[in-house]
Amino acid sequence: MKLAKVQPIVLVAGGSNTWGIRNTFHSLLAILTTLIVISFIYLKQDNGTQLSPSPSPSQEHLEIDVSQDDDTNNNNSLSSSKCDLFNGKWVFDNESYPLYKDKECKFMSDQLACEKFGRKDLSYQNWRWKPNHCDLPRFNGAALLERLRNKRLVFVGDSLNRGQWVSMVCLVETSLSSIHHTSMHSTANESLNIWKVKEYNATIEHYWSPLLVESNSDDPVHHRVVERTVRVNAIEKHARWGTFGDPNGVYKKVEMLRVYEMALRTWSDWLEVHVDRNKTQLFFVSMSPTHERAEEWGAAKGDNCYKETEMITKEGYSGEGSDPKMMQVVENAVEGLKTRGLNVQILNITQLSEYRKEAHPSIYRKQWEPLTQKQIQDPNSYADCIHWCLPGVPDVWNEILYAYILQQ
Ligand SMILES: *[C@@H]1O[C@H](CO)[C@@H](O)[C@H](O)[C@H]1NC(C)=O
Ligand SMILES: *[C@@H]1O[C@H](CO)[C@@H](O)[C@H](O)[C@H]1NC(C)=O
Ligand SMILES: *[C@@H]1O[C@H](CO)[C@@H](O)[C@H](O)[C@H]1NC(C)=O
Ligand SMILES: *[C@@H]1O[C@H](CO)[C@@H](O)[C@H](O)[C@H]1NC(C)=O
Ligand SMILES: *[C@@H]1O[C@H](CO)[C@@H](O)[C@H](O)[C@H]1NC(C)=O
Ligand SMILES: *[C@@H]1O[C@H](CO)[C@@H](O)[C@H](O)[C@H]1NC(C)=O
Repeated sequence: MKLAKVQPIVLVAGGSNTWGIRNTFHSLLAILTTLIVISFIYLKQDNGTQLSPSPSPSQEHLEIDVSQDDDTNNNNSLSSSKCDLFNGKWVFDNESYPLYKDKECKFMSDQLACEKFGRKDLSYQNWRWKPNHCDLPRFNGAALLERLRNKRLVFVGDSLNRGQWVSMVCLVETSLSSIHHTSMHSTANESLNIWKVKEYNATIEHYWSPLLVESNSDDPVHHRVVERTVRVNAIEKHARWGTFGDPNGVYKKVEMLRVYEMALRTWSDWLEVHVDRNKTQLFFVSMSPTHERAEEWGAAKGDNCYKETEMITKEGYSGEGSDPKMMQVVENAVEGLKTRGLNVQILNITQLSEYRKEAHPSIYRKQWEPLTQKQIQDPNSYADCIHWCLPGVPDVWNEILYAYILQQ
């Protein structure tokens, strides 16, 4: 299905409105939302052998482990082992940022286009992330596409992950000259959105799969966090290696950390068996923080990110949602995979995003259902403090991803 006019992201984003970001926020939901924002990306390496049509898979080996590169001569380069991209600070830079305007990007989601939906304080668009010991390379769409030639870059995950995908498509699209031929395709149920640049035979895709395990929030249009149950071993379904065999499988509501751990274990097992480690590069994007509880940063109890116009400046600030235990679970899973010979890069975007309480859509997005009188009187009740305005924070996640892809 070709979606030249219909903006697929808009359709998909409709679902996220049913997330419990409305009136009934409570702590259980806090746990759930921090859980579902975790996602991973894989960059599928085509064998790159279009000139020698050999039937055997390529032996190309890919590895981009920053820490193992001992080129320390250039401190300004990513390959410097001293440079941790995730420790740094936000620097005001209204010369270079935003990297694009929301109006310029055809695929912008109405859920994320804060400026379009009336936000007047726009300084949230003007921040550059500056790692302590180096600079992020300037995003260059053509250079990225060159790397992606004959490959697929697939973002797998939930609506936060989709926001990152939209950001990536916008970053690349707005940097292309008009001679490029691009297309957007989508499956009828919006599970898979594929943006293709024909000149490079490259695609940037989003595959809807919160947690990568089967759950009743799978349908991108009709999902409800509050009713979430997870069937952990159903990863096969999403991986399209056949359908999950047991229709009466046990659905359980289990403690979230535990679910997360189980999900990651299932994920790890699947990766080990099915990923061609010679052709696939894997990234795991760490938890995206929410700013639902203003008391966490010392503002009034009962408030949230609504009306916030400035970021948090306290160094190392971390809200209650960014549970270090969750992080530990991820680290353990990734460590386990390494011992089994599979490298997954963690893009640890949690801390840098923690500061950005002012960068959520809040009330500046399309409302999919008319607001009630009660909501109108209390904007806190429908402010979205989970997703991120675009242009904005996810652009920086992608600049980091770009840095990793570029140095491979
Ligand atoms: C890199 O940084 C180290 C210490 O941080 C410093 O001693 C060294 O001179 C720097 N090298 C270059 C090429 O800037
Ligand atoms: C950037 O911000 C400074 C200070 O707020 C302002 O004087 C300047 O006009 C801005 N420049 C642009 C390009 O917006
Ligand atoms: C285009 O890219 C796909 C991977 O996304 C690859 O399978 C296919 O062989 C490529 N086509 C050409 C002509 O190289
Ligand atoms: C969406 O459609 C594709 C094929 O069109 C199918 O494989 C997939 O299971 C569907 N996803 C959901 C969540 O229904
Ligand atoms: C990956 O490459 C290594 C050597 O480069 C080879 O021994 C191994 O069989 C390859 N694995 C697959 C799944 O192709
Ligand atoms: C991510 O960074 C935070 C602090 O910046 C740290 O506590 C955490 O262990 C890191 N997680 C990973 C997986 O590296």
